[in-house]
Amino acid sequence: MSYTSFDNIGLVKVLAFFQTHDSEYLSGQDLSDVLKISRVAVWKHIKKIQKLGYKIESKQKLGYRLISNTEKLLPWEITQNLKTKIIGKRVYYFEEIDSTQNFAQKIASDKKENGTIIIAQKQTSGRGRLDRKWTSPKGGIWCSLIIHPKFDVSSSTLVPIAAAVALSKSIERSLGIKTTVKWPNDITMNGKKVAGMLVDASFQAAMIEYMILGIGINFDIDTKKVEKKISNTPNFYGIDSLRKKRDKTPPKFLLKEFLVQFEKILSQLNKGEKSKIVKEWTKRAEGIGKKITINTSNGRISGISKGIDNEGALKLKTNKELMRIFVGDIVLN
Ligand code: BTN
Repeated sequence: MSYTSFDNIGLVKVLAFFQTHDSEYLSGQDLSDVLKISRVAVWKHIKKIQKLGYKIESKQKLGYRLISNTEKLLPWEITQNLKTKIIGKRVYYFEEIDSTQNFAQKIASDKKENGTIIIAQKQTSGRGRLDRKWTSPKGGIWCSLIIHPKFDVSSSTLVPIAAAVALSKSIERSLGIKTTVKWPNDITMNGKKVAGMLVDASFQAAMIEYMILGIGINFDIDTKKVEKKISNTPNFYGIDSLRKKRDKTPPKFLLKEFLVQFEKILSQLNKGEKSKIVKEWTKRAEGIGKKITINTSNGRISGISKGIDNEGALKLKTNKELMRIFVGDIVLN
């Protein structure tokens, strides 16, 4: 099943009425009168709303009352009061999909999709960096964001760095957890991975046609189950899940905060404020000034990490030289 932010108008109307009157019982007749739809239509919408995970209580003679909202990242939950101008204004939501990156690629060049987010509850062929598999069960936040940037190609390598800063900030704001950024695109908590990012892009000469930022957040997943599947993949260093048992923070709080923070940092990138972004990243980074080993396509290289430059390359001081590394994994630190 899939939903978008530009359909299901009737259902959204009924739901919005419940959400704005959540301490009252509403009768089918009242809803039908106010919303100017038949009682049968009201009833059908209520059934569907319940199926989507919203708890609606029904009491004889009194009517219906909304008890709690769903955890699903449904389009109208994302767009409601979203404080951005472009990012996240159009939403596609899939209960199951192969990969949100694949879907995004099909629509990304259309002008109206600038800022669009594609969200999945579950992915069957989730993709990680360097064509690795990304296990994406229910409970995570799996999404792809389409952007049509104004900046030129030379700034494009900073997009995942900017996104990592925005995500780390949003995790702190929504869940109160301090995380660390790990080059190139990981977010870690106590040395374990809690989120990863990748970018697919289409260039036309020196211009960027579009970029698709793929974000995978282990929000509330069964880490033991996932670890069993991925513990022998390259660059595995342990995973953790962000939301702990007693925490009831809904995932939409984190995702919406991320969309706001990402739009802010994108505007810095548009203004050419690269050093500001690198500084923010460095503040949250682990391992700078320490000895690290990196796996690259030319083998392993060890040296002292000197942080990143304005293009997002890792500066590594080896015995011989100061190297700039664009692609690789930190394997020892
Ligand atoms: C990494 O290797 O760390 C990057 C992982 C990115 C995973 C996300 S989940 C949503 C989007 N769709 C995909 O297939 N991959 C990205």
